[in-house]
Amino acid sequence: MTKPLNVGVIGCGFMGRTHSNALLRVNNFFDLEYQPVLKAICALEEESKLKAFASQWGYESYETDWHRLIERDDIDQIEICTPNNTHKEIVIAAAKAGKNIICEKPLALSAAEAEEMCVAVEEAGVPNLVSFNYRRVPAISLAKQLVDEGRVGKPFHYRATYLQDWTISTDVPQGGNTLWRLDAKVAGSGVTGDLLAHSIDTAEWLNGPIRSVVAKTETFVKQRMHAETGKVEPVRIDDACMFLAVFENGSMGTFESSRYARGRKNYNTFELNGEAGSLFFDLEDPQYLDYFQYSNPSTGDKVEDHLTGWKRIHVTNFEHQYMDRYWVPGCTIGYEHTFINGLADFLKGLETGVPAQPDFRSGLRTQKVCDAILESARIGQWVEIA
Ligand SMILES: NC(=O)c1ccc[n+]([C@@H]2O[C@H](COP(=O)([O-])OP(=O)(O)OC[C@H]3O[C@@H](n4cnc5c(N)ncnc54)[C@H](O)[C@@H]3O)[C@@H](O)[C@H]2O)c1
Repeated sequence: MTKPLNVGVIGCGFMGRTHSNALLRVNNFFDLEYQPVLKAICALEEESKLKAFASQWGYESYETDWHRLIERDDIDQIEICTPNNTHKEIVIAAAKAGKNIICEKPLALSAAEAEEMCVAVEEAGVPNLVSFNYRRVPAISLAKQLVDEGRVGKPFHYRATYLQDWTISTDVPQGGNTLWRLDAKVAGSGVTGDLLAHSIDTAEWLNGPIRSVVAKTETFVKQRMHAETGKVEPVRIDDACMFLAVFENGSMGTFESSRYARGRKNYNTFELNGEAGSLFFDLEDPQYLDYFQYSNPSTGDKVEDHLTGWKRIHVTNFEHQYMDRYWVPGCTIGYEHTFINGLADFLKGLETGVPAQPDFRSGLRTQKVCDAILESARIGQWVEIA
């Protein structure tokens, strides 16, 4: 017998859709004690659009004000799929009301905000998760497993890129739905909070905490029309950011992110080079993890011979995390499944009492690294992570 879990989702844009899909599908693929009920959707879209969204995704009701949603006694869980500047206020209210909370990344506009949010959920004792969904790409989960099995060994280098190309035109306005990402008041930062937050979460998950960073940011288009005011206003986000990092384990990291990499749409890659082996992943080819084995993790013996080379692992076998929940080996899953997998882990956490990660404390780590990057870019010096 499953227990109903009444969910209210705030935001019906890109992430509102991925979360709705996950809520609808999760019990089809995972055996769980809890069964989400799509109780209410809430957003700022005009009422006809909200009604249409509710009907398309099977929500029982809709709200036009998130305060009203959080006040409702028939809501157990809030999922926050709204722009970054709204996360803190919604989280604090939802925590006070005792709701479970899944919040989209980046958790907040700054580490100070994220700290307040951690305190709010911890004092209220409510389950919480930051939606760093890439941890739930089976190939990235496999990378984590290989690291934990000692197959990379002592790490030397971590190299990440996150590249897009959708803001190159000077005609793209700032502000408003989707384009709020170009408005620093709403987004907090540009590629640092939007894209590098993902790269940092993955990097720290695989390679441990970052100790210090030195960064350079650039804003290529200095002014853009604001979609809400119609006025041309200065652009205050970082269009591109590159930073060097030193990890606590002594390895060196390079990170590059841009929305000006012509031809790159969602090019999120990482490579980890260790003494025993290397790993490479590219989100535009997400079914594969590339692995180079240099030595046997148990014996430390060198395995190099005339067949040595990079191995492409098609991560679709039943042995691969999450894959036994879907089809048969060789059949792939997609972007949307990372949200289904994340929700399944969160619901399992409710069931077992072992919270799913990354929780808000872990999201705060990423936020501290983002703050250090922006501070370093401002002062032109290395910055230690607080
Ligand atoms: N995990 C990921 O890979 C990923 C991908 C994209 C976006 N995100 C994050 O998800 C969040 C939302 O991004 P998006 O791309 O879905 O944005 P979007 O512009 O597509 O949608 C935003 C939605 O929020 C609603 N909204 C805005 N202010 C509101 C308010 N005060 N009250 C109620 N609703 C409000 C809007 O009406 C809209 O429905 C952001 O924090 C973003 O960084 C995460």
